[in-house]
Parts: sequence; C-alpha cells; structure tokens
Amino acid sequence: MRPTRVIKKPPVTKFKTTPNLTNYPLLYSKLKWPQIERELYNAAKDPYNLAHFCIDRHCTSSRKNKAALFWEGTDARREVYTFYDLYRQTNRFANALKSQGVRKGDRVFVFLDRIPELYISLFGGLKYGAVVGPLFSAFGPDAIWDRLYDSGAKVVVTSPELVGRLDEVRSKLPALKKVIIVNKKHRPFELRSHEISYEDMMRKSPETYFKPHTSKSDFSIMHYTSGTTGKPKGAAHVHGSISCQYATAKYALDLQENDIYWCTADPGWVTGTSYGMFGPWSNGISMLVYEGSFNAEKWYHLIEQYRVTAWYTAPTAIRMLMKAGDDVPKKYDLSSLRHITSVGEPLNPEAIVWGLKAFGLAIHDTWWQTETGAIMIANYPTLPIKLGSMGKPFPGIRAAVIDKNGREVAHETEGDLALKPPWPSMFKIYWNKDDLYRSKFQKGWYVTGDRAWMDKEGYFWFVGRADDVINTAGHLVGPFEVESALIEHPAVAEAGVIGKPDPERMEIIKAFVSLKAGYTCSTALAEEIKKFVRTRLAAHAYPREIDFVDSLPKTRSGKIMRRLLKARELGLPIGDTSTLEE
Ligand code: PRX
Repeated sequence: MRPTRVIKKPPVTKFKTTPNLTNYPLLYSKLKWPQIERELYNAAKDPYNLAHFCIDRHCTSSRKNKAALFWEGTDARREVYTFYDLYRQTNRFANALKSQGVRKGDRVFVFLDRIPELYISLFGGLKYGAVVGPLFSAFGPDAIWDRLYDSGAKVVVTSPELVGRLDEVRSKLPALKKVIIVNKKHRPFELRSHEISYEDMMRKSPETYFKPHTSKSDFSIMHYTSGTTGKPKGAAHVHGSISCQYATAKYALDLQENDIYWCTADPGWVTGTSYGMFGPWSNGISMLVYEGSFNAEKWYHLIEQYRVTAWYTAPTAIRMLMKAGDDVPKKYDLSSLRHITSVGEPLNPEAIVWGLKAFGLAIHDTWWQTETGAIMIANYPTLPIKLGSMGKPFPGIRAAVIDKNGREVAHETEGDLALKPPWPSMFKIYWNKDDLYRSKFQKGWYVTGDRAWMDKEGYFWFVGRADDVINTAGHLVGPFEVESALIEHPAVAEAGVIGKPDPERMEIIKAFVSLKAGYTCSTALAEEIKKFVRTRLAAHAYPREIDFVDSLPKTRSGKIMRRLLKARELGLPIGDTSTLEE
C-alpha cells in the first residue's frame, strides 16, 4: 500500500456555487439512465437527435438568445453565436446537404481548424442524419486517406488552407463526391468542379427548421483511434450517447447555467466533441473556443478576458504551464475559475499541488476513452482527491479490475481495467472491423486495454497500457501507423517504434530504423525522416528520436518485437525471447 496524499474537500457551503453533485454515494446508488434521458427528451414531441439536444431545444426556452459560443481566432478576431444563431446555421447546413443529394447515414467529414464553421458543419451534419467525422487539421495526406478511405466518406468540409493535403490523396478516394470549401479568410481561391463554396451554399440554403429523422440507435459520430496493430479504427457512436455526455458534464465537470466553460481539446479528438460540443451544449452552457494552440500567456489571458469558470484540459498542458513559471499566472486575474478538470494521461501529483498554488483549486482527473464516449471514472467536486488516483466510477457505470478469466481481483492488485457493458455512450462498432470490436468484450466485460488497481475505498489507480499504444501528450498513437509512414521514406528499409517515457509529454515516439543499401546514417537524414513523417501523418505523430540500427529484433513470423526494443532502450530485463527470430 503506497502512502497517499489526500485533498479533503470543504463543506458544500464553502464552494463558490453549490456543486451539482453533493452526495456521490447517493447518486451512485440511484442514477438510472432512462431517468437522465427524460431530462433531455420528451418522446411525445422531440426528435432524437444530438443537434436537437444541444441546440434546437434551447431555442424554445429562455436560453434562445444566450451565447453558446464565444470564438477567438488566431488573429484576435472574435465572434459570438447564440443558440438561436446555431439553430439557424445548422438548419441551413442540413438543408444544403439535402439539396446536394447526401443521404441519411452518409459519412460527412470535417477537416477544419477550430473555427465556428467546424461546429456548424458537424451539428448540421448530425441534424441531417449523416454520420459525421472530425479530422485534426494537423493531419497530413496519409492520415487523411486512412480515415476517409476506411469510412467511405462522401463529403469533406475543408478550407483553402488545408485542401492541398486532401488533393494529394483524392484520386484514391472513390467514394468522395463533394468537397465543401470554407473560405473564412477570403483567400483568392478558384473552385474546381467537385468543390462547393460553403459561403454560397449557406447563403442559398433556407434557414427554415430542418426536422431531424434520426433515432436513438442511429450512428452519429465516428472517431478514429489507434491500436497496437493495423491502421486507426473508426469507433462509431449513436445519438443515444447523449445521456452520458449530458450527465457527466453536469456532475463530473460540474457545469452550471452561468458558467463560461473552456475545453482546450480539439474536436479532432473525442474530448473535443464529447466535452467540446455535446456535454456543455446539451446542458445549455456558454463555451469558449480558441482557434490557436498552446501558449501559456495567451491561455491565462483568455481565462481572464472571458472570465472562464469551468476548465477542462490535459496533464501535458498543465505541465507546460508549470514549465512557463509560477510568476506567469500571477500576472493575470484568474479568480473567475471555480472548477478544473483534466483528461488523457495520468495527472501527476506535482501537477495537482502546483494547481493548488497557481489557481487555489485542485485539478480533478477524469478517465475515459474514445470507445467509452464519455467520462467513466472521475474525481468529483465534493469527494476527497487522492493524489495520483483517477477517482471513482461515474454513477451508472460499473468499473472493475479483472484477471484474464474475467474475475475481479483483490483490492490493491494490478489487473485489467474493465467496464460492465452496456452504457449509453459505449461505442457500437469499429467501422468495417467486427471481429476487432467483438474482441474487446470478454467474459461479460468491456476490457479497456489499460492496467489499473483499485483501493479499499473504491478509488482507481492507473498503471499503464496493456499494449504497445503510445500516449504522447494525451494523443494515442499506434506504432504501426508511424512504422508504415517511416517505411514510405526512400531510405528506410525497416522500422520499429516505441513510446519512450518523457517528463513533459508522458511519452515521446522513438523510432529504430534500418536503412536500405546505399544510404548512410547521419543527423541530417534523421531530421529529414522526422520531417517526412510529420508532414505525411501529423505533428504529434512523428518520432522525436530516431536511432539507426543494422537490423530489428523480429519474431520468427516476422513481427517486430517492440517489447524488446523498449526493454533495451530503458535498460529493463528483456524477458521471454523464445519467439525471437535469431
Ligand atoms: O490509456 C488511457 C489514457 O488514454 C486512453 C484513451 O485515449 P483516447 O481513446 O484517445 O481518449 C482520450 C480522451 C478520453 C486510455 O485508455 N487516459 C485517458 N485518461 C487518462 C488516461 N490515462 C491515465 N489517466 C487518465 N485520466
């Protein structure tokens, strides 16, 4: 049993506002998902649709003219959209999809920077009944192709700045019929025959109500996520997932009517949709979106300027804020903040201790995955925080640590972190990969792929991944994707990729590369290979370190033994090598 530092919570009366969840054991014992659904949905009159829950339903209430979105661009441009503005714009987008011949269930992908049109396109697509898919604007041609090809996307919404990367692979995307171009910066851009101007399309399309024709079990959104083997897989969710996102935003993120909420995640990642769109807006909360990337001064400035009250961010961002120095937060008025949460990687105790000093608030860790669709384990406003623990299961969710036979292990024993299916936001398929989907469910559990232990008080503690998937700054990266990109470089014969522990980013990607005859290793070549992967795949998915090796350790069946590469790199025992080729 490790010594644990605990942050006790004050009595409820001492909070700036009374938390939505005041009694965890009580809510845990009584929460029923159909009851949560009834807070959002009236079967007699409502369509079952994410855009309805997040936007349309507020337009018949006092929230109609409430700001839904405060947007700040990289060039300091600002825009504000009320729920009613979003209602009209998403009607236009949905009506336009209809006139473009898109059918219900078609995949509509959005490849844009964090601009309001990204939100309008995704919600317009959802309203129409399309299956939407967000793509990180940092993706290069290979990453784009993997996702658009696998999903058979019919429409892509993008911009003059990004369309060049799509152009590189468009001829290999037979299902792609229309490309909608959002020209927010009014660049000179000549549309080609397959392209449509977003601005023209929206102007011509009526803003009259588009009534959704979706049901609870219709697919809504898909996110591609990485595994140990193979290309990224599309985890698809259904409109019914909203009950989980709504309830967790209310009780774990503690979102309240007068909040200004900021989720720093990009919608290319599940946090940026479940909690950068669905959770807050289904609760009718005003939300800040900043187009730019991390910058400590800018972030503090945004909190001050917009009077941000609730903030959902990531451990790497916290560590980067720590690195920027203790004096920086002192320059800003951060007194509006009242609840801070984080996700994506282990939140180290030092980060929480630092947060207490910098903000006067504890940072609350939450745990979940693309596949779970919503927060499954969390620290709550009124429960003590055990530093280093992910917290306790969300009400309505049963989590456990199990052994290989699906049996729950004793307290404080490491095992596989598992969840009892189903729950409303559970992924319903991996697109085109039924067997892989089924393999995630064993002995009556959904097995998460994470290793963990639970203490006597029911707090869960993260140990690590059970597989080779790399977690770099909260982004999961499959080694296979990086290896595939590496071997496309003309000099590379073979490549093996591992996650190497890193104090700031949790892990960095490290590649071991053997060269083809005629090439010699050099720092310049390593840099060139890094740049190659960075542009083909994404900025977060390139190897920050490359070692040149003569050959890679392989199993007799030819599989690269990453486990061995990692053990060698970290100076750990190399374990069982009986399957090694030589
Ligand atoms: O390994 C866990 C890690 O991130 C994985 C899920 O990544 P992804 O599907 O991209 O979704 C991220 C957004 C929810 C998990 O299997 N992870 C997530 N949250 C935590 C975490 N590891 C430790 N502590 C966390 N709080």
